[in-house]
Amino acid sequence: LQSDPRQIIEEARRGGYAVGAYNMHNEETCEALLWAAERVDSPIFMQVGRAIIPHMGVERAYELTRRIAERSNAKYVIHLDHGSWDEVMLALKLGFTSVMYDGAHLPFEENIETTRKVVEIAHAFGVPVEAELGKIPDAGENVDWEAYYTDVEEARRFVAETGIDYLAISVGIVHGVIPDMPEKPINIQRIREIKAATGIPLVLHGASGLTDREIQEAKAAGVHKFNADTDLRHAFRAGLEAVFAQGDRQLEDAMAEGRARMVEATIQKMQQYGCAGKAAE
Ligand code: G3H
Ligand code: 13P
Ligand code: ZN
Ligand code: NA
Repeated sequence: LQSDPRQIIEEARRGGYAVGAYNMHNEETCEALLWAAERVDSPIFMQVGRAIIPHMGVERAYELTRRIAERSNAKYVIHLDHGSWDEVMLALKLGFTSVMYDGAHLPFEENIETTRKVVEIAHAFGVPVEAELGKIPDAGENVDWEAYYTDVEEARRFVAETGIDYLAISVGIVHGVIPDMPEKPINIQRIREIKAATGIPLVLHGASGLTDREIQEAKAAGVHKFNADTDLRHAFRAGLEAVFAQGDRQLEDAMAEGRARMVEATIQKMQQYGCAGKAAE
C-alpha cells in the first residue's frame, strides 16, 4: 500500500522510533526489502539512489520499484535519494511521493536558494522534501570530521528559509562502512542541538556500520529516518558468494540466496529502528 511519507514520519516522531530507507539495486533487492517489511509489519522507504541511477536511470528504477511494491502488502513510499535538480524534477513527474534534493555541495546561500525552489515545486505536487546540510564523507576519505558537521545555526536558518520537511545531517557518519573503526566520531549531542534549533524530523544517512547503541541514541536525539544501504548490499553479496563458492551454479540460485540474506539483514534493521510492527498503526 503506497502511503503518505509525512504521516509515516510523523507517526515515528510521536512514537519515538525511526523508519528505515533502503536503496534498491535490482528486482531481487526490491523484493528483499518489501518482503522484510511484510514479514515484520514495518513501513518502508524504498530509495532510488546514487548507484542505480547511472545503471538504469531514474525512470526505469522507479517503474521497477513500483511494479514490485504494488504487488506487495507492504506500507511503502518510493523516495528519490540524493537527487540533483533535474532528477528531482523528473521524479516529481514520474510520481515519486518523497524526494531528497541534495545541495550539500553548494555554498550555503545557494543551497538555501535552490532548496527553497525545489520545495515550492515539490509541495505543489504534494510531495515532501528532504534536504541536506553539512557534508557526508565516504568511508575511506580522510576528512576533518568537525568541518563536515552540520552547523546548528545554519540548520535553523536553512529549515526556516526553505520550508523542507526533513533534514539530513552530518554528525560524524559516513556513506559506507569503516572496518574496525575503534572510535567513531558520531556526535549525539549535535543531533539534539540541531533538533532543538529546527524542530523538524532529522535523517541520518550512512546508517550502515553504526552500533546498536549509536542507533538507539540517535533515535532518542531526534532521528526519525535512517538511510541504510551498504550493510544490506553486503548481505546480498554474501549470499551470492556463498552459492558461487560451490561452483558454477545458476544465477537464479545465487540471487535467491542473496535475497534471502538481505531479507534477514533488513528485518534486523527494522527491529533496531523500532519500525517493526508499526505498519498497521
Ligand atoms: O541546478 C539547478 C538550478 O540552480 C535551479 O534553479 O530555477 O534558477 O534553474 P533555477
Ligand atoms: P550506508 O551505505 O552507509 O548505509 O549509507 C546509505 C545512505 O545514506 C543512502 O543515502
Ligand atoms: Zn545518503
Ligand atoms: Na555508513
